[in-house]
Amino acid sequence: MIKEIIAKDILRSFDSRFSLRCSIGLQSGQTHALLGPNGSGKSTLLRVLSLLERPQQGELIYRDEQKNYLNPFSDLALRRRVTLVNTRPVVFRESVLKNVTYGLRIRGIGKKECMERATMALRLVRLEHLKDQPAPLLSSGEKQRLSLARAIAIDPDVLMLDEPTVNLDPENTEIIEEAIKALHERGDRLILFVTHNLFQARKLADQVFFIHNGRIIEQNSRERFFSAPETELARRFLRGEIY
Ligand SMILES: Nc1ncnc2c1ncn2[C@@H]1O[C@H](COP(=O)(O)OP(=O)(O)OP(=O)(O)O)[C@@H](O)[C@H]1O
Ligand SMILES: [Mg+2]
Repeated sequence: MIKEIIAKDILRSFDSRFSLRCSIGLQSGQTHALLGPNGSGKSTLLRVLSLLERPQQGELIYRDEQKNYLNPFSDLALRRRVTLVNTRPVVFRESVLKNVTYGLRIRGIGKKECMERATMALRLVRLEHLKDQPAPLLSSGEKQRLSLARAIAIDPDVLMLDEPTVNLDPENTEIIEEAIKALHERGDRLILFVTHNLFQARKLADQVFFIHNGRIIEQNSRERFFSAPETELARRFLRGEIY
């Protein structure tokens, strides 16, 4: 299991317009919420931390029980233990079930276990009854649930989710939130999600990071972040004055 992710002074910039410059530490067994206004760098940070995009500067270290991975970007086996669920999921033109088993098969998992894990994941997001339906026919809320089921079936050590419930109705939102909670309850997974939904952050997160203009300006326990934010910018964000 991955125990910790540490990013030190990472820099990811796009020409001169925007730069993400921050340090962050994430622990297994914890659910972390990343909050911040539009364009503040949340998705960029998620892509870097989930090993999809290299920072131009700084260090990113993954640590498990055995060792520190000082160069995680070059380690395919490690990268397979990390999953990022994107806001707008891409589904294959196959059945819902095959969309879930695909990620397992490329990891060399046998047919029987594939079926068991896919069924369990589809049950968790309440899509079991649609397993034989072509995935492109699902509603957008169902596609987001499918995309989470794919991640859950893989059972990654590290699960990152970029606005997993954006544009969803309360029922779909609750199904996804319950699935994230269930994953958290399995114990030592490391979860990081981005949301604009403050109720969701309160409900699911142990730790909250607040990012503004490419800098993490506050990091706190959920209780403290919501009851006594330390920075004026976080207070204004919580009052709905910046977004
Ligand atoms: N590949 C890219 N090339 C150029 N600029 C980019 C790229 N990706 C992101 N940016 C810019 O970086 C900044 C941060 O973008 P990012 O998507 O990380 O923000 P965000 O916090 O996720 O915003 P939102 O809440 O709207 O999703 C934005 O100004 C964006 O235009
Ligand atoms: Mg984003």
